[in-house]
Amino acid sequence: MPGAAPVPGAPPASPAHALPPPRALAADPLPVIARRRSLRRFSAEPVSAQALADILHAMTSPAPQLSRAVRIDVLTATVAGVPPAAWRVEPTARGGDAPTEVGAIPAPMRLHRRVVHDPATLRRRARAAALDQDVIGDAAVVFVLSLDRDALRADPAGAARGYRHGFIEAGLVGERIYLAAGGLGLGVCAVGAFYDDEAAALVGLDAEREWPVHFAALGVPA
Ligand SMILES: Cc1cc2nc3c(=O)[nH]c(=O)nc-3n(C[C@H](O)[C@H](O)[C@H](O)COP(=O)(O)O)c2cc1C
Repeated sequence: MPGAAPVPGAPPASPAHALPPPRALAADPLPVIARRRSLRRFSAEPVSAQALADILHAMTSPAPQLSRAVRIDVLTATVAGVPPAAWRVEPTARGGDAPTEVGAIPAPMRLHRRVVHDPATLRRRARAAALDQDVIGDAAVVFVLSLDRDALRADPAGAARGYRHGFIEAGLVGERIYLAAGGLGLGVCAVGAFYDDEAAALVGLDAEREWPVHFAALGVPA
């Protein structure tokens, strides 16, 4: 409707959202590896958009090691300054061919809105998709990793090897969530128990083309 006044509290009309430029994380991950544990109790405090940008950057760099099939969607239940929704993370370093220059300032990550959810519905549907696990329903952010089936088949080593490469790559990305969030003092729990169809609908995947393989909950520790 031309000239209509924006509804207070409604998500912005643009389906894209730019996060702040990501910061490089601590070079030495060993202290985080030594103390990290899965965390399942989160406070109601929002995660900052800066922390989300930092973690997404860590997940998407360096470029893929084995497979270009991993796609990242993010559900923002409570992220300061980011409307609640399901977003597809724009591939930046991931999928790009040019190596990132050492010391270069990374480009801001962009999110593309796929599904609009009100906060209560987002939490309810995320929890239900993950077999009613509170760790997903109470998270400030849920990452959903999926595999692009065409990209698996197109693996230079062949489809059978590509299938295995895709899972290993998703595991690497999932581990980076733990390391990046741990370095920022945030809590994470990987979640492999979910219903494929509900997970796909939650983040707007075309289930024929993309296959959800991994969830991870993120939040401020309670
Ligand atoms: C692929 C994967 C799937 C997981 N799925 C779940 C899950 O569905 N629910 C859950 O509470 N924890 C889940 N976890 C967390 C594990 O229970 C946890 O990593 C393991 O018990 C070791 O504990 P730690 O992470 O504290 O070292 C998962 C972890 C991984 C790596």
